[in-house]
Amino acid sequence: MNIDKIIDEMTLEEKAGLLSGKDMWHTKGIKRLGIDEIMVSDGPHGLRKVLDGESDSIKANCFPTASALACSFDRSLLERVGRAIGNECASEDISVILGPGTNIKRTPLCGRNFEYFSEDPYLAGEMSTAFIKGVQSQGVGTSLKHFACNNQEHRRMSVSAEIDERTLREIYLAAFEAPVKNSKPWTVMCSYNRINGEYASQNKKLLSDILRDEWGYEGLVMSDWGAVDEREKGVYAGLDLEMPGSMGKNDKAIVEAVRSGRIDEKYVDKCVKRVLELVEKSGFKSGNVKWDKEKDHSLCAEAESECIVLLKNEGGILPLKKNEKIAFLGEFAKSPRFQGGGSSHINSYKVTSALDAVKDICDVTYAKGYITERDETDKELLSEAIKAAKEADKVVIFAGLPDSFESEGFDRMHMKMPNCQLELIDEVLKVNRNVIVVLNNGSPIEMPFSDNVAAILESYLGGEAVGKAQVDVLFGTVNPSGKLAETFPKKLSDNPSYLNYPGEGNTVKYREGIFVGYRYYDKKEIEPLYEFGFGLSYTTFEYSDMSVSHDELKEDQLLTVKVNVKNTGSVKGKETVQLYVRDTHSNVIRPEKELKGFEKTELMPGEEKQLVFKLDKRAFAYYDPKISDWRIEYGRFDILIGSSSRDIRLEKSVYVSPQKEIKEPYTVNSLCCDIIENPEGKKLLLELLGISDKAESANEEYKIISLGEMPLRSLVSFVPIKEITREKIEDFVKKLNMTL
Ligand code: BGC
Repeated sequence: MNIDKIIDEMTLEEKAGLLSGKDMWHTKGIKRLGIDEIMVSDGPHGLRKVLDGESDSIKANCFPTASALACSFDRSLLERVGRAIGNECASEDISVILGPGTNIKRTPLCGRNFEYFSEDPYLAGEMSTAFIKGVQSQGVGTSLKHFACNNQEHRRMSVSAEIDERTLREIYLAAFEAPVKNSKPWTVMCSYNRINGEYASQNKKLLSDILRDEWGYEGLVMSDWGAVDEREKGVYAGLDLEMPGSMGKNDKAIVEAVRSGRIDEKYVDKCVKRVLELVEKSGFKSGNVKWDKEKDHSLCAEAESECIVLLKNEGGILPLKKNEKIAFLGEFAKSPRFQGGGSSHINSYKVTSALDAVKDICDVTYAKGYITERDETDKELLSEAIKAAKEADKVVIFAGLPDSFESEGFDRMHMKMPNCQLELIDEVLKVNRNVIVVLNNGSPIEMPFSDNVAAILESYLGGEAVGKAQVDVLFGTVNPSGKLAETFPKKLSDNPSYLNYPGEGNTVKYREGIFVGYRYYDKKEIEPLYEFGFGLSYTTFEYSDMSVSHDELKEDQLLTVKVNVKNTGSVKGKETVQLYVRDTHSNVIRPEKELKGFEKTELMPGEEKQLVFKLDKRAFAYYDPKISDWRIEYGRFDILIGSSSRDIRLEKSVYVSPQKEIKEPYTVNSLCCDIIENPEGKKLLLELLGISDKAESANEEYKIISLGEMPLRSLVSFVPIKEITREKIEDFVKKLNMTL
């Protein structure tokens, strides 16, 4: 395709037309110029291809949702899942799958949290990167969404997320920055909301200045479905494609804006070019790409078994044994909740429930226990369940959130489970203490039963084969290795966004700043129910022999951190070793620690392996809006190695020096105490004040220290030396700045 030539041959109307969709799922083709239309489809945890004139999508495999996948902390697994989904897309002639969603989980109430990875930008970024690499390795594009700050469903099409620059960069954009730089998604989807007042769909700072100019993004930006406000502004800001389109109205608006000179045609051409580049990349034909749904169903199960998090296992009640009398209770044992509602909803190829899967292992008794249609106790179901529990050695209760409790399009009102399920757990505990709770939910819930039950398994919304994975973990065929990708607070009001969610009217202020998730709970010393990075195993691991490659890290040097991990139990298992960085002294407020690395490894009993982490300078930096860049302060940083964010096993320190020392110029308003910190500055100040810098002048030195937080300009009034005038101080500042 000679793109430049095609653009030359296009009329303005054709160009404007190309910048919006033909319908819900297609871009427009132009026959006379040989431009094909392409098809995009929702996902991201499966293919939601909707055929023309149909309302249901085709049958497809439903993989674990992002909420579950992130708990695997396993980049290669995400890549494998991505490859499988990419292959499915290729076999169905889908050019772009609309995902992954990498928005940060600011509040546990966001109805779409199940589609997002984490509260931590590093983890979210790594998971997105791996997924995108997998999909795109199949010649199919992704759409990294929703760019940016779409952290709640409440008023998602109008709300303005009001965020300070440092928080924006360190938390909310960082989750997008890594995948944009490291996996080059073919497309990025802008979000519905506004950021600091401007809609994402026409936000030049976001779509051009940061995404393209700073991060080097070369792909296409499309709108979320119906996210366009003023199309003309969008073209200027870098929004290439409006989806699904406005039945020609916005195309006309673009033509009119160019003809009347309000917008230069070169901006339209840039967008057209990126649409054509996407069409060119999508030039495959499905040919003999095969989609083996059975094989992918097995991958759904395998993937979910890597994600399930064992939160509690008192007295080693798990794994279950075949010869025990076991009762499975709860509707979710038979009809699991394995995905969320909204645009990501997959028409599942087949569903394997825990009851289906357990048939291959042993007989269990089953009682439904509760209904999901309403939060109402069904007395008959409850007494049936109690009877089954009385007769069993161990009771597994499958519980969690029904569809009506969370979905795209609305936020939750609270973090509670349905009362009828809580009542079932309480009543069963009265007749049997060996209770294991298996949860299906897309976001954290309060667990009033956590002290009383013997074991808890968190399986999130785990895809169509969730039941097989649950049974594998319950019986120890798979040793659980998932770790929480978000904090479970004890109660909603502990959450950092609590006082500033959902905002007032169309504004939500992110006043907690960078203190999102564990960054907040750590700093405030609030004990969560389960912390970020937490997850148990049926075996135990010991950490040892930590080393760092440098005591002092200079210029562009990378820090290599090594640590040994050993399986000290009696079954094989996988461990995710987490690396956090702590800045020990800083002039700005920083979190207690931040995740900057993780490695997952499998170990046989008694086996020991060395894990290696590489940290670049960014791992130590914070974003400084004053210089519009990342900044490192010279000083000591602790490298923490842990099994969770609160179970730090080893640590070492390293001194890090900035790539370039950034010094801010002094002014007449600079404080004496800051000037004294610079040895040259101190000398000059002594001179100005006529104080000798000889040894005997300790007393005089005291005089200068006592000037403390006084600005230079005030010396005029407070130092009884008549020669010290404003002009003299201005000269002094000039001299001072020459020392920088
Ligand atoms: C959602 C997107 C989705 C799109 C197309 C929007 O409402 O926010 O995530 O890809 O619809 O279905």
